[in-house]
Amino acid sequence: MAFTDAFLEELRAKNEISEVIGSYVNLKKAGRLYKGLCPFHGEKTPSFTVYPDTQSFYCFGCGVGGDVIGFIRKAENLDYTEAIKLLADRSGIAMPESGYDDSMLKRRNRIYEMNKEAARFFFNQLIDEKNRHALQYYFDRGYTFETIKHFGLGYAPDSWDALKKHLNELRFSNEELYEANLLKKSAKGGYYDNFRGRVMVPIIDLRGRVVAFGGRVLDDSKPKYINTSDTLAYKKTHQIFAMNFAKSHAENGLILCEGYMDVIALHQAGFENAVASCGTALTPEQVRVIAKYTDTVILSQDADEAGRKAVDKSIALFSDVGIKVRVLNIQGAKDPDEFIQKFGADRFKALIEGAETDTEYKLLLAKQKYDLSSPAQLADYVGEAARILSELSPVKRDIYASEIAEQTKVSKQAILSESKRYAGKVGRTKRREINRSAMQMQSEKDKINPEKRRYKAAALAEERIIAVLLCHPDLCAAAQAALGDDDFVTAFNKHIYAVVTRRIQAGESLQLSSLGQELTMEEVGALAGLEAMGKTLSNPQQELRESIATLKEEKRKLLKPDLAAMSDEEFRKLFEN
Ligand code: CTP
Ligand code: MN
Repeated sequence: MAFTDAFLEELRAKNEISEVIGSYVNLKKAGRLYKGLCPFHGEKTPSFTVYPDTQSFYCFGCGVGGDVIGFIRKAENLDYTEAIKLLADRSGIAMPESGYDDSMLKRRNRIYEMNKEAARFFFNQLIDEKNRHALQYYFDRGYTFETIKHFGLGYAPDSWDALKKHLNELRFSNEELYEANLLKKSAKGGYYDNFRGRVMVPIIDLRGRVVAFGGRVLDDSKPKYINTSDTLAYKKTHQIFAMNFAKSHAENGLILCEGYMDVIALHQAGFENAVASCGTALTPEQVRVIAKYTDTVILSQDADEAGRKAVDKSIALFSDVGIKVRVLNIQGAKDPDEFIQKFGADRFKALIEGAETDTEYKLLLAKQKYDLSSPAQLADYVGEAARILSELSPVKRDIYASEIAEQTKVSKQAILSESKRYAGKVGRTKRREINRSAMQMQSEKDKINPEKRRYKAAALAEERIIAVLLCHPDLCAAAQAALGDDDFVTAFNKHIYAVVTRRIQAGESLQLSSLGQELTMEEVGALAGLEAMGKTLSNPQQELRESIATLKEEKRKLLKPDLAAMSDEEFRKLFEN
């Protein structure tokens, strides 16, 4: 299974970590390090650190860390071998001939191939005379043949085995097709086509591979859509529909819609910056994908209750990562698709230009809830508006307060002081929330070593010992002379210590990229954190000595029962033993 140290060394040398990460994260040089906003959790001040001298990274916010391979694994959602392959391709290094486990890679590639062939099959069915009604369906929606080809749209015939037979002929087995979610399995174990009698929309990833399908019925029957469920090649919560096209049109913002059909209609009308989430509510992962390409999003959700709820949630997710949001106020149509059909592209463009900022949108929604001719409701509206303003900067607060004062004839002063009152409250809740999420993140970090909570002092001493050895392997002999494996309290650190000391003694590399072969990605991440800590130690010898002393003391306390705290029963048992 193993790659040689020499191969990994070359891979590492040709894939300078700050360069590789720099194409995902905006890094700023800070002395010998680089800092940036962590791509793996939402943050506004940079705690994500890249260390060129050890070719590692670590986020002090969420505890994610590792080497360049670990970064690619997380960022691209790949397994170990796939990440290595990506880096080898990127830097023009040949992969070793054999000897490593690439079964996952092969299975995933098979899914891409099956999907490609399936898409081709669906397209050919669509243009087949016998399925004229399916092509007519698209034409009735106003799609041109150009658009159909551009998106690779197709038709799954109303058959239990048309696709199955076709792909079997191309030497894809039923088990493979099942893994790609193109076939389903009956209770008796027979296989049948997942998509039947549906117009098919392929979902294409950023590298142009067909990763999944959405299939829509041609009439009003249910379920309206059947979508590919998650496979080795597809994670729907990470995917953005049409991002493959939109990514090169994203400078002035992306238009985020709800449906595939909206996106297709918008692209045809010239709005090639339209995208959609893939049949799920927007997720933080999708927000991160979007954040790579733009800093402005125009929300274009359906004009119904569900759409409005989606807008609220999306605004929160985008503001977490500092993306500016504007909201389309679609009127006279249920969604962007219908709007374009009814009123044309120019009117849609005007709609975009007039799109409200998120504040205007929230104020508008609030206003619609109340009857402003009733004094009681007017007061409620002003209260709600004041709360909305409380989240803004003082300047913006002032501007909007003037507007609301004019609308409602309530004095601007009253509105401002009311919203200041909220700001104080909100500030307190926010701070509490931040503390809570910091604690959550800390416990995420501690998950890797579950015993750390109980044996905090011992675990910290263990960590310092490992940190010293990672940065000063020459102190390994001294550590081993003073310390046996059994002196360790927590199993996780004991394991890591054993791996590290064995490698040092055998003269093997301590580079994280080499350690990645015998440790999991999470373990390497924890090591990156320890390495980062090790670098800050000014007197490693002394640190090692003191940490060993602490650890031994902690261990002794654990072995020696605390007699004073024992119940009579426990005391008796101890002596019987
Ligand atoms: N969706 C889904 N399953 C459903 C309904 C909807 O996965 N049963 C997802 C699809 O990704 C769909 C999106 O939610 O594209 C929005 O739903 P809707 O507005 O109903 O679909 P449209 O694609 O706009 O289809 P149409 O215009 O034909 O109504
Ligand atoms: Mn629609």
